[in-house]
Amino acid sequence: MSIDSQSILDSAVAEITDATSAEQVAEISRSYLGKKSELVEARKGLGALDPQERAEAGKQLNEVKTQIEAAVASRTAELKDSEFALQLESERMDLTEVIDRPIVGSAHIVTQAWQELEDTFIGMGFTVAEGPEVETDWHNFDALNIPPSHPARDGFDTIYVDHGGDESTTLLRTHTSPVQIRSMLTSEPPIYIVAPGRVFRRDTADATHMPVFHQIEGLVIDKGISMADLAGTIEAFTTSYFGEGFSSRLRPNHFPFTEPSAEFDIQMPDGKWLELGGCGMVHPNVLRAGGIDPEEWSGFAFGFGIDRLALMKFGITDLRELFTNDVRFLKQF
Ligand code: PHE
Repeated sequence: MSIDSQSILDSAVAEITDATSAEQVAEISRSYLGKKSELVEARKGLGALDPQERAEAGKQLNEVKTQIEAAVASRTAELKDSEFALQLESERMDLTEVIDRPIVGSAHIVTQAWQELEDTFIGMGFTVAEGPEVETDWHNFDALNIPPSHPARDGFDTIYVDHGGDESTTLLRTHTSPVQIRSMLTSEPPIYIVAPGRVFRRDTADATHMPVFHQIEGLVIDKGISMADLAGTIEAFTTSYFGEGFSSRLRPNHFPFTEPSAEFDIQMPDGKWLELGGCGMVHPNVLRAGGIDPEEWSGFAFGFGIDRLALMKFGITDLRELFTNDVRFLKQF
């Protein structure tokens, strides 16, 4: 035989092993196995050999061809695997985030104001009470000295709940004042409670109104409670919650459930007055509805909006921001 098939095989295997890409392997494969390769040329020469030699040489050539093909196939597979790994590595997306401090959420600003108010009143000796958001009209109105025909009912823009029965008996509470009644009915005086909660009115959302908002109610029932206790409590709350330099005043007003009634305002250090809420001495009819003898006990109540306080504290001008719940907005506080 005129060619050294073993050395062809050796050099082919060496080149294939050294190849660094699948294309390079394909090129080597062409040069060793293609039409112009030594192996093909050698095969053409087989005819000149005598039958005995021809069979032997043919077998050898086939053997070499098979081994080169096997080397090509395994090296190609190997290179494709590592090329794929390289491609994966280069296209890998780094989804880890480097942060130097843990991301901590925070309470919504209404919740913050709510909790600070609770803390302030707890510090003044009050306990926290609560009542249902879906109320009977008796707790929300009648027991608070607002009978069915009372004009104040229209003023509340009540949202009634239709649960298939007499719909006028169930509603979404329009204020936190029904918690006064529930507290009187479930506990014995003396009573010192505050009741923060969600309230509802048929209002169109704008910069200063929402159909859902928050109030905090206060109720004190004890012996010999007077308007002076009310004024002193409002003043103590004002300096405790807002700080030194803030003060309060009461202005005459009217609520069916208190008598006398007042509006209370707070004065900010810049001298401006802000209307905060309503208050007054608990009306005898309300005490009676709560099962308390007005001859023996007296008390005062107050109620004001929480949302407005949160707006004021953070200098926010549109109430709707509090309810849109855009995290980019909320994260600032
Ligand atoms: N409930 C009244 C309101 O929503 C506020 C209030 C509470 C007034 C307690 C007096 C006493 O406007």
